[in-house]
Order: sequence, then structure tokens, then C-alpha cells
Amino acid sequence: MAVSKKAGKKAAAPAKAGATKVAKADWKEGFRKKQVGVSDMTLLTTISNESINDNLQKRWLNAEIYTYIGGVLISVNPFRDLGIYTDDVLQKYKGKNRLEVPPHVFGIAESAYYNMNAYHENQCVIISGESGAGKTEAAKRIMQYIAAVSGGQDNSIQEIKDMVLATNPLLESFGCAKTLRNNNSSRHGKYLEIMFNAQGEPVGAQITNYLLEKGRVVGQVENERNFHIFYQFTKAASDEQREQFGLQGPELYAYTSISNCLEVQNINDTEDFVATLNAMRIIGLTVNEKSEIFRMLAIILWLGNVQFEEMDDGNARIADTDVTDFIAYLMDTDSAMLQKVLTTRVVETQRGGRRGSIYDVPLNPAQATAGRDALSKAIYNNLFEWIVSRINVSMKPRSAASHVIGILDIFGFEIFEDNSFEQLCINYVNEKLQQIFIELTLKTEQEEYVREQIQWSPIKYFNNKVVCDLIEERKPPGIFAALNDACATAHADPAAADNSFVQRTAILSSNPHFEARGAQFLVRHYAGDVTYNIAGMTDKNKDALIKDIFDLIGSSGNQFIQSIFPDRPDPSSKKRPPTAGDRIKASAGALVDNLMKAQPSYIRTIKPNQNRSPTEYDSKAILHQIKYLGLQENIRVRRAGFAYRNTFEKMVERFYLLSPSTSYAGEYTWTGDAKSGCVQILKDTGIPKDEWQMGVTKAFIKNPETTMRDRYWHNMASRIQRAWRNYWRYKNECAKRIQRFWKNNKEGLEYAKIRDYGHQILAGRKERRRFSLLGYRRFMGDYLDVNGKNALGTELRSACGIGAEEVSFSCKAQLLVSKLARSSKPSPRFLVVTGKAVHIVIGTEKDGRAHFALERKIPLITIKSISLSNLRDDWMVFNCNASEEGDPVLHCYFKTELVVQLLRLSQASINVCIGPTVEYAKKKDKKQVISFVKDETIPRDDVYKSHAVRVPSGEPPNSVSRPPPKRKPGTVRPITQGKLLRAGGPSNNTKGTSRIKPAAQPLPRKPGIDAIVAPPVAKAPSAPAPAPPAQEEPDVERYRAKFAFEGQEGEMSFKKDDIVELVEKDDNGWWLVRKDGQEGWAPNNYLELVPRRPKSTPIAPPPPARRPPPSAPAAANATSTFRNTPSPQPAVANASAKPVAVFPGVFPSNSSATPWKKPAALDTANANTAGSRLGSASAAKPPPVATKPKPTPPQVAAKPTPKQPGKPPIPSAPRPPVGNGSAPKAAVSRPTAPAGQMDLAAVLAKRAQRMADD
Ligand SMILES: Nc1ncnc2c1ncn2[C@@H]1O[C@H](COP(=O)(O)OP(=O)(O)OP(=O)(O)O)[C@@H](O)[C@H]1O
Ligand SMILES: [Mg+2]
Repeated sequence: MAVSKKAGKKAAAPAKAGATKVAKADWKEGFRKKQVGVSDMTLLTTISNESINDNLQKRWLNAEIYTYIGGVLISVNPFRDLGIYTDDVLQKYKGKNRLEVPPHVFGIAESAYYNMNAYHENQCVIISGESGAGKTEAAKRIMQYIAAVSGGQDNSIQEIKDMVLATNPLLESFGCAKTLRNNNSSRHGKYLEIMFNAQGEPVGAQITNYLLEKGRVVGQVENERNFHIFYQFTKAASDEQREQFGLQGPELYAYTSISNCLEVQNINDTEDFVATLNAMRIIGLTVNEKSEIFRMLAIILWLGNVQFEEMDDGNARIADTDVTDFIAYLMDTDSAMLQKVLTTRVVETQRGGRRGSIYDVPLNPAQATAGRDALSKAIYNNLFEWIVSRINVSMKPRSAASHVIGILDIFGFEIFEDNSFEQLCINYVNEKLQQIFIELTLKTEQEEYVREQIQWSPIKYFNNKVVCDLIEERKPPGIFAALNDACATAHADPAAADNSFVQRTAILSSNPHFEARGAQFLVRHYAGDVTYNIAGMTDKNKDALIKDIFDLIGSSGNQFIQSIFPDRPDPSSKKRPPTAGDRIKASAGALVDNLMKAQPSYIRTIKPNQNRSPTEYDSKAILHQIKYLGLQENIRVRRAGFAYRNTFEKMVERFYLLSPSTSYAGEYTWTGDAKSGCVQILKDTGIPKDEWQMGVTKAFIKNPETTMRDRYWHNMASRIQRAWRNYWRYKNECAKRIQRFWKNNKEGLEYAKIRDYGHQILAGRKERRRFSLLGYRRFMGDYLDVNGKNALGTELRSACGIGAEEVSFSCKAQLLVSKLARSSKPSPRFLVVTGKAVHIVIGTEKDGRAHFALERKIPLITIKSISLSNLRDDWMVFNCNASEEGDPVLHCYFKTELVVQLLRLSQASINVCIGPTVEYAKKKDKKQVISFVKDETIPRDDVYKSHAVRVPSGEPPNSVSRPPPKRKPGTVRPITQGKLLRAGGPSNNTKGTSRIKPAAQPLPRKPGIDAIVAPPVAKAPSAPAPAPPAQEEPDVERYRAKFAFEGQEGEMSFKKDDIVELVEKDDNGWWLVRKDGQEGWAPNNYLELVPRRPKSTPIAPPPPARRPPPSAPAAANATSTFRNTPSPQPAVANASAKPVAVFPGVFPSNSSATPWKKPAALDTANANTAGSRLGSASAAKPPPVATKPKPTPPQVAAKPTPKQPGKPPIPSAPRPPVGNGSAPKAAVSRPTAPAGQMDLAAVLAKRAQRMADD
């Protein structure tokens, strides 16, 4: 079957029966999917409520519920589990800048946590939105995030984290209920502050509770529920608890069943009860405490079941005293007293301000029911507050707290059909929060621009302060003040008080946001118009328990119930106890103050529909929320204004690292004032000029992200990484280059030197083959790879029986073989030369296989001389000690190299005879002469016949090797890329390139703090700098160029007689010199010292008269062309000349040769092309230059060759004949080379001799 490339085909393959294969879910999908709409609405092209709505809709339908407006997070409730709160997703946000990751509530949590740690400022997250929009969910996610990212392996820290998370199920059970708007509606406000130590670990927490909707305990509208805990307890209590508290199901209690809603979709009360108990355990509630809490719940439930009957006189009577008996049992009080408290009220008459008689006034059933409910509400409210303070006790900070992150989750703005005092309070708190938002994002912002003289275009917005004033103002009295007044004037009769309030609403009507409507009034809230019913409002505001109830509680034997009612009113006090309105006003005020002290983050939640539908996007309802939340204004202000501002001092303190002018190696170094430092930083961070402004005391930046301090650390980290990578790249590159040079050297320099030695040996006395003179010809030695592992080499090695001996030379050759009665003929052979002998191997074929046999082994010491013709032929004779076999006559293309190798191996104890004829011993005493004749008709090589070799003309004997082929000119690849390493790599030379380290400065402080800093002392005028010392003539050695030198890169080029200054001498023959202010390497043997002039500048002595060139001996004619004589004569091989021996060193001599010196170690790493400059025995050239010095050790040429017994010392003068004394005639004495014309070998030899002498 052909493989299909179509993705998805595989997935579509039918699953095996019984096993349904589900594709593995990939969490990254959420991150990879294409973003829909804009994730930050400040980027919207058109700013209007409609475009915001469109954007939110697109995103919400694409399951992207979060969108930013700058730093404000807009969250649209998805009403479904999107799988976006997993630990994997959470980790994605850890340590990330808000802009690096898609909008998320974790992003807000991260930035709050980061800012707290980085800037040491308290943070708060303000979550607002209407009921059911997702505030509580968002708050929980923030806690989840902080618990996950704030480190701390410590038990106590983990304990705090667990407790913080446990507060959610506990307080939701007691403080949340199903409403028509939300199945888990928060019926109280909660501000959770998590305290952190200096390391950012949570060490404690504290909850501030705002206004529990206690009315819910005694009654709910149809289809709503009481607080969750009542259903959990009645449904899931243990048998023991049922027994202990006489507990029944929720349907049997009036308080839980009256609204006909026992079950809620997606809420499992039984499971939740387990979670509640678990949370109680984590918080550390004792068994007794838990038991008492459940006792209170039972008391409340049973109180709800107390029924009143109307007696004939209209007074109330308890219908079933069993219930009250049981309640009295639960309360550990007297049942009769309880009954009395529930059915009568103690009234104290007052006469002329004095206390008068006390009466028991019987209550009618309605009054009795209200009294019962008041007791229930009071117990529940106080129980809730006790739980909150008990949680706070458990979460008390374990150690000193440095900073706090507060999370505010209040009850959302709500509008019901019947809105009462509770809704007024809830909506009032929401108004206050909207105020904070406006204050901080819109109003204060604009005011600050004016104050700081910043240029900007003002944005219009609705300021809801007018509504806040309407509710909370004292003068003119607002709604709360009017309620208080109504309560005060008609304190005994709630209905009269309500009426009194109705009249007062007329005065409030002057406020455009208020409308009096008889028994109702309307308030135009920022989030919509709400009509409130006045009936019962003053009583709820009064919120006072009658004295009888306190007496009842006081009589209880139950300590717990007493402890939850700590504040009993003082009957003698004339001071009016605070009303509920007073309390909510005070706590809302305190909350605002608290929030204003911290750096706020905002989450504005939006409810997409009223049906908890995950698919319905109610555009109209959302547009309404968009409008009242002021998102449009928010975007406009954000776009037009400056999202970030801070005092110059703070700015400098936070961001000085971003500018090299204000920091060095992490230290603050700016010496100017904070404002100028601030300007410098803003300039250096590259923020466009129109993106920031300097105010009077503060700097303003449009987008704070552009100056995030993290950039510094990020940059630093990448710089370090880059530097490290560059370093490695540089190191590797250097290593590679060194290796390349080394190889070059090995194959180039050394072999070229050997080749040049060959030139010296021949000394211009033999015509040359053209191929021998090619530039790339190298004397490689072992051509048959006997040293290696190839098959032929191995066979030859074994045929020669040389074991592991090193082979210096091997090649194919022809041996002149004399056949009986026939003329001699060349026959193929293999030559293998070791340090001891020359092996002649014959190869034969037998049974289709090659066989090799050693034909003759000629020990080197038996070879007295080697004879060659002066023509270009390839014949040579080894003149050996007399033997039966005679002297071998060989034809070998690599004859010069073979001679070289033999001379090297024999320490030049073999003479090289070159002449027009070659004499050899055919047999022991039978001498034979081979003559060499020029014959231009010979097409190739040469032809041997009957003791005569005919050969065409070759290249002139004084020919030198051609220069090596030029390397391809290519651009030199820079070793490093990137800015950190300078071209050519790092160097120690920091002169003028590195920054001067500025001195660290104290960070600027606010003026108050500056006061304690010593005022800057006026700088004493600096003393005039001393006059510079008179310039002396530099104390350097100066050299004159003896020859022109064309240097390569890094080398110094000069013309003859140029003067250079010595900078550094290196032992290996290269000196660092300076000319015209430039430095470069030059071969030292090109230079001669310019005698230093004495101080008095004496007249330089006349230069020594140049020594005339020595008269060349007749036999060494060819030599004269070899040396650098002023006018070299073209050399012509003299066919009639007698053979001469040549010193293979410098000068031709038929007596002895300069022994081969191993070129100064193979460590002359820089040989590259320098190898090719090494003389090539080119007589007409300046002396060869040594290899460049660094980084390799200098050439070891100076080391004298160890003296071998029987060997003469290294010659400094013509070497006396060696061996058997049969030195060829006309031995030439070695002339003294004129200074500067000696070749390297001679120079080295001289130096070695000097050292030896020393
Ligand atoms: N991010 C979310 N992902 C999934 N479901 C959510 C999310 N936010 C909210 N919900 C759903 O919406 C319901 C209402 O949310 P939540 O209780 O947080 O609203 P609220 O704003 O606190 O309302 P209230 O003011 O009544 O307390 C939650 O119970 C949950 O089912
Ligand atoms: Mg809530």
C-alpha cells in the first residue's frame, strides 16, 4: 500500500474493535493556536464599545477568554472548563513577562508576584464585575498560581500555602449561596492578603471580611438557596452529628426549604461537605471547635422551625415548645427563658432622660418571627466572623513579613426585582471599587499630567464619585446618613422609621443620580439603574439586637456562643451604636485606603449571558458591561497617556542598569542628579522620544514594558552566552588553523627543505628534469608506503625483513641487469631504504600472485659514493666496497631524492660524484664506464644501450624549483563574528579600547533621605598637571634592512636600507620591528644592527669594506651560479668536466657534504607559505627566513647536532675529506659566505657551533 502523506489519514484508520483510540491531547495546542482578534485592545484600530465587543466576542467564541488593555485583564466567563489552569499551563507563565505569553490570569498573578519581589512593593489584585462574571474563580486561580510559584520547602511555608488554598472551600461553604445570578455567589466581600518574607515565600495571610448578607439565613427568594453549608450539613452530617444535633434533611427546615431549592446543578453538597471538613482540618480547627460550629448551625436551623401561633389577644405563642426545648438544650440555656425572649420584648420607659420602669411587652406573631430571625441572623453572622478570625489566627505570619499581595473578591454588582438594603450595600462597595479604578487609571492620571506639566490630550469619562457621594456623604446627607437619621428619630418603630426615610428621600432628589419613587427609590449606579424597596430598610440599617437576646446569650452555659458575641452593648451608654450603613461605609473606606497603598492590578470580569451558557454571547448585555466598566475610556487613556511613571529617584534606582552611562558592572555610576540620570537612561534604552516625557518630579513612559529591567538581565545572560560561544568558536577555529598550519608545515616545509637540500647536493652540476622542478614537488620519501599499512608496503617490508624499522625512502626503480652473453638491460625493482641499508627487491608473478624477494641488501656504510651524470637522465650508481655483485646501476626518477635520503641517513658520509661519465664496478675487479650523450631525438626519459645513455637536454643545472602554486586568493574568514570579540580575536591589549571603570555612586534618594547624606563638597580646584618630562631619544635598537622583503599579513615589508626599530626579538629568527609607527615581523637575517650613536652623537665609523667574493675554484663553476653572486652566469653542464663531489651543505665539493640537519622541529607552525620561501636553494635570493614566532616555540635549529663518535664537528670551515680518503680530486674549500648571504642552514650551523664552543 502506498504511503499516504496526508495527515489525518492515519488517524482516520478504523480502530480495532473494542478499543477506541483517542488521539493524545496536546496541551501546547492552546498556545499554538492562532490568536483571534487582538490580545491587547490598546492595539485595536478603532476604539469604540462596539469594536471592543467584537474583539471580545471573536476571542470568546475561540475559547480565548482573556484579553488585555495594557496591564488590565479582561476576562469573559467561559462557563465551561477550558483546561487552562493545569500545572503545565501554569509553568508556562512562571518568570515570564506579560507580553511573552498569551493573556491569562496567571500572567497577572506572575506580574504581581514578580513586581513585589523585584520592586519591593505591596501589590493588590482588584477583581471586579457583576455577579457570576467569574471574580471568585479568578481569585482562586491567583492563589493557585502564587502557591505554586512561591518557593519554600519549609514545612511552615507549605502549611501557609495549604491554608490559603483551604480558605476557599471553607469560606465558600459559609459565605456563598446559589442566587438567581450565580450558583456559587459570594454573599460577602473578602480581601485576602498573603504576606511574604524577603525571599518571596508566603509566611502568613489575613482575611478581611466585608458585610455578609446575613438576611439570606432566614429567607431567600424563590429558587435561591441559603448558604451552601446548611445543605452540606443537613445532607451529609454523620450519624453522630445527627444524633447530637437532632439533625434532619434540608427539606425539613424552614430556612433551607422555604425557597424550594434544595439541589443546584453542578454542586454536590455531600462532596463539598467533605471538602469543607478537610479545609477545617487544614486550617487547624479543633474537634470541639468544629462541633460547636455545627451546633450553631443546628441552633439556627431549629430556630427557623420555631412557629408562632396567634393567641386570642393577638399575641404570639410558641406553637411547639419541643423545638424551643431542643434549641435551649443546644444553647445550654433555660427553655422558659428562650420562650420568653422569643415572645416578649422588654421595654424600658424613660422619663425626662432618666431610666424609668421596665415592662415585658408581648409580641405579635410577626414581631416574634422577626425577633427569632434576628437571633438566627446574629448567630450566623457572628459565627462567620468568628470563622474568619479563627482562620486569621491559624494563618498568622510565622516570621517577619516584608510584603503583601492582596486579592480582593467581593460580591458583584447586582440588580434583583426586589432590591433591599443588602443590594444597596453591595452595589455601594462596587461603586467604591469603580472609584478606585477611575481614581488610579483615569482621574489621578490626568491630574498628575497637569501637575507634572506633561503634554497630553484629556479623555472624557464618567466619574462615579457623584454616586458614591450620593450614598455615603454626611453633608449634604447621603442615603446612609438619611437612613441613620430616620432610625434615630423613630427608633422603636421600624415602619415609622421607614416612613421617615421616605420623606428624607425627597431632599436627595436634587442629585441627578437619585430618584424618589414613594416606597422605593432609584439610584443611577455606574453599572445600571437600581430601584430599591424602602420597607424594612431602616431596621436592617439599625441592625441592633434587642437587649433580651444578649441576656439570653449571656445566660447560656455554652462558652462558644458567648465567645462569638463578644461585644455586648453597654445599656448605660448613650452613644448610638454604629448602624450597618456606618459599618459598611467604614470598612469600604478602610478597604480603599488599603488598596491605594499597594500597586494595583486589575481583573475586570464580564458575564457573557445570564443562563450560564458556554455558547451564548449576549452581545447587548456585554455591551452594557463594556460601557459601565469604562473599557473604552480605559483604552483611550492608556493609548494617549503614559502607562508608567515614577519619581526620578525611583526610576534611576530601578533602571540604572539599562544604561552604560549610569551603570558599570552592576554598580550605579551616574554622578549627575537623578533627573539627568533618568533622561540618560531613557535615551540609552532607545525608547522613541515621543514615548516618554519628563515631568516636574516624575518621568512618564507610555509603555513600561519597553523599560523592563528584565531586559538588562536578559541582555546580560545572552551576552555571557554569546561571549562563551564566541570563545569556544574562537578556540576551535584557532585550533583548526594551527592544525592546518602544522599539516602544511609537515608536508610543505619539511619536504620542501629536503628538496632544497637536493638542490644543494647537485650544486648546479646536473641538468634537471622539468618535473623535478615543479613547485609542488615535495620529497615525500616513502612512495610505496612501506611505513603504512597498504598491501604492497607490507609485502615489501616482509621481503626486506626489516621488522618495524622506519623506512626513509621507497620507490620503484630499474636495475641494470647484465645477462650472460647479452647486453645489460634495465629491469624493474623496488627500492626500500632504511637507516641501515638500501634494499633492492624483485617482484615476480607466480600463479597469478605477486611475490617479492629481497635481491640485494646494500648496507649504507658500504656505499662510498654515488655517481650521477651531469645530464638530465635518471641513472645513478652506488659505488660500493668491492664485492662479487659489483655496483648497482639504477634508473630512478627520484634519484635526487634518493641521494638526499642517503646523505641524510649517512650523515653525509657518502660522496656524490657528478660527471659526464659514470664509472662502476660490474664485477669485483671489473670497472665499467657508462657514457652519457645528448640526443634530442629521444622522446621521453632516456635510453640505455651498450654502456651509453642517450638523453635529451634538460633544464639548466642551475635551475631552482619553481615557486609553489599560489593558493587560491580567498577572503580570510574572520575567526569570530559578533561584537564581543575584536577582529583577530581577543587580546590583552586593552589600551584605549576598554571602558574606564567609573566609580560606583550612591543611588539617588528622595529629598528627605538626601538630607542625611552629606552635601556635596565643592571640588577643590585641581592642581595643574606637571609638565611632561622632556622627550628622550627612544632607547631602542635600530636595524637596517640588508635586502628588500615583501612581507605578508602581520609581517613587515621593507626596502633595502630601510631602518626599523626593534620591538621584540624572538629566538626563531623572526623579530618584531616597528617602521613608520607600524609593527610587523621581519626575518632577522635580513637585518643588521645600526650601531647606537653615543649621546654626543659621534660620527659613525665608516662601514667595513665589503669583502670581495672569493674566487670560485674552477671545478665549482656551477656553484657560482648557486650562490648569490652579483651577476650569475647561466650554468651549462660541462660534459667534459671531471666528476666532483659536493658538500651537500653550501658549497660544492667533491670531498664531503654538510650533513643534513633536521629542520627545526616540525613545530614551526607558521610555515604556511613561508615554507615555499625557504630558499629553494635559489642562489640569487636573499637568505631564507625562519618561521614566524608566535604562538609556537622558536625553531630548535640552534641546538647542535649531538656529536657522534668518529664524526667531525659541525663544520664551520671546509670539512676535511672523510672515509677512505679517496676524495675526489679538486676538492673545493668552502668560501666564507659574505654576511647576509649565508643560507639558513649555514646560519644555524654557525649558531650551533657557537653554542657548542660556549
Ligand atoms: N475561568 C472560568 N472557567 C470556567 N468557569 C468559570 C470561570 N469563571 C467563572 N466560571 C463559572 O462561573 C461561575 C461564577 O463564577 P464566580 O463565582 O467566580 O462569579 P463571581 O464573579 O464571583 O460572582 P459573585 O459576585 O456572585 O460572587 C463559577 O461557579 C464557574 O462555574
Ligand atoms: Mg464570587
